[in-house]
Amino acid sequence: MCYAIPGRVVAFEGNRAVIDYFGERRRAINEIKNLSVGDYAYAQGGFVIAKVPEEEARQTLDAWKELFFELKKRDDSFSRAPEEAKLEKFVRKAENGNIARKEILSILKTPDRDLNNLFSTANSLRKESLENACCVHGIIEFSNHCRNDCFYCGLRKSNARMSRYRMTVEEIANAAEHAVNDLGFRALVLQSGEDPFYTPQILEETISKIRERCDALLFMSVGTRSRETYERMYNAGARGILLRFETSNRRLYSSLHHGRKADFDERLSLIRHCKEIGYIVATGFMIGLPGQTLEDLADDILLTRELRADMWSFGPFIQHPQTPLASCSPPDLNLALKVIAASRFADRNAKILVTTALETLHRDGKRKGLLAGANSLMINVTPRRYRENYTIYPGRPDRDKEIERNISETVELLHSIGRAPTDLGV
Ligand code: 5AD
Repeated sequence: MCYAIPGRVVAFEGNRAVIDYFGERRRAINEIKNLSVGDYAYAQGGFVIAKVPEEEARQTLDAWKELFFELKKRDDSFSRAPEEAKLEKFVRKAENGNIARKEILSILKTPDRDLNNLFSTANSLRKESLENACCVHGIIEFSNHCRNDCFYCGLRKSNARMSRYRMTVEEIANAAEHAVNDLGFRALVLQSGEDPFYTPQILEETISKIRERCDALLFMSVGTRSRETYERMYNAGARGILLRFETSNRRLYSSLHHGRKADFDERLSLIRHCKEIGYIVATGFMIGLPGQTLEDLADDILLTRELRADMWSFGPFIQHPQTPLASCSPPDLNLALKVIAASRFADRNAKILVTTALETLHRDGKRKGLLAGANSLMINVTPRRYRENYTIYPGRPDRDKEIERNISETVELLHSIGRAPTDLGV
């Protein structure tokens, strides 16, 4: 977004460029043919987005330099690991990348009195591995039609009280162009319900149109579509997918999806296939589903790791009044934060998103999540007249906010805790 720092290419390793940001180096997949050592570039989500003319890059870097080191200092002050004997063993295991299920479970069972120590230890692991880098992506919710009837989701097809919309290809491309060229986002997620109206051909057309008009990493979040559809979207220029497995508990999955056990396997194999295609994969689960146990959540974390998620996307379940789960309660904020912390222990290099659901659960959820081990965010850039009808769950704090206001509040928050918009790399 407008919050982005260019870096200088210092080397190439196969298809990856090594990019330097004020002395910190990150790797990003490069597909720009004429990018050379010495060039400046924007990278986002571990992907080189665009070459930046030297003069422009120098000006941006000059403007950032002082602030960048100030932010790092601020981040340091927020992420000192407490001397905590109980957590030492876990920290060592996290550093060696071999934390196991029983340890994850024990993190999820941390009693309230020990939570501050847990969260600041997870936050310090984040800082040791990835410094103060933070990705901010934009999300465009382009259709709220859905052919599915998932028990938890407000977009479910039997919710007759939802006012449905579909954005045209031109509207989606205009929203994307505005987000990238006017607001400065470098990575966008295009999300919808599972809406077959958007045929593979329309999806291709949308992606190509956006790619023609602006430089951005495009994530597609369109649910379980055929492998061929995902291949075609990749060939049209999409490079990321956001597709959650929702829960690793097969029985729970099928109970929330009309008993269709095969759907779970289909979804997992699709996520794996997308990884093979070469997509950057964002995946994850919901926290606090009715009947879900802490053991399930430990398995969810392990499955996200096993799937080699490039980005971890999970959030609390929030009940929607027009669904069969209307009377179920959302989880406690601390449980959601413990899942963030445990995920950081499970993969110290993870890009962990703070999702809107966490902010819906608690108004300070974004900040608390970032201080419990998370390091990525999304900002809603859906045109306002549509946004209010994308009610997966009610009460979203970004529902009526002007995009510009949402951006400036997020930038303020990131500054206040010392995070900088350098790329997290791959
Ligand atoms: N509460 C929280 N998250 C939800 N999702 C769907 N319904 C809900 C809900 N009631 C999540 C699912 C889906 C993503 C787009 O939104 O994980 O994959």
